Amino acid sequence: MKSELYSKYAEQYDAAIQDNIHNACLERPSLQALLDDLSGLDVVDLGCGTGIYAQYFIAQGVRSLTCVDVSESMVEIVRAKLGERVTAYVQDLSLGLPQQKSASADVIVCPLVLHYVEDLTVVFKEIHRVLKPAGYMVFSTHHPFADFECSQSGNYFERELVKQEWNTISKPVAVSFYRRSLTEISDAITSNGLVISQICEGKVLEKVKGISAITYQKLSNRPNFIFIKCHPSR
Ligand SMILES: C[S@@+](CC[C@H](N)C(=O)[O-])C[C@H]1O[C@@H](n2cnc3c(N)ncnc32)[C@H](O)[C@@H]1O
Repeated sequence: MKSELYSKYAEQYDAAIQDNIHNACLERPSLQALLDDLSGLDVVDLGCGTGIYAQYFIAQGVRSLTCVDVSESMVEIVRAKLGERVTAYVQDLSLGLPQQKSASADVIVCPLVLHYVEDLTVVFKEIHRVLKPAGYMVFSTHHPFADFECSQSGNYFERELVKQEWNTISKPVAVSFYRRSLTEISDAITSNGLVISQICEGKVLEKVKGISAITYQKLSNRPNFIFIKCHPSR
């Protein structure tokens, strides 16, 4: 799903998430904790955004890195930052990954993207196709329990399009995303040949206490994101 936050305001978004609480002190360290040694591996970053993860993967010594995003602005930023060290291109994940060869990726990551995709079936079918048999995928998305607070229907099991305004770039920008149950996420994974090996609910860094004690307490007491590691069934 296209959003102005990730197109018109892509540069501002990049600046905002370098050191903020939710991305830099909760999401990225929690997802990175699920990754094994990446050196010498072929990595695909789905919904790569401005390439903060890509910079991390290069620092980890990956063999190849492919960055994919639906936003041209995001892909341009990644190319400007990382040049020939990455292959970056525009692709809507909900239409699959036609440019990726089968059994070509050791690791696929997809941080904070899948809540923008209405039907997860195509995405996980493609992830299964693109992963090497011994490869794995790690993704993060909004925690279903946290998002249930935005439910209009009151039915946890019904997928809903949620429309909000976020102040990520210090001014309100309209954002829409899909709220869905943990069952729907799990079924999309397991019905497409993948097995879940680990689920985490994230851990906010201690240093957030010194930035905002209230936010630290909130993020320590309530789940915000969910992190799932899965691999092709053997
Ligand atoms: C919250 S940002 C996360 C960016 C990056 N993964 C990170 O964690 O820094 C969400 C990204 O997903 C991308 N995105 C949203 N829907 C998409 C889709 N259907 N296909 C590919 N990318 C998508 C957006 O353009 C945006 O760059």
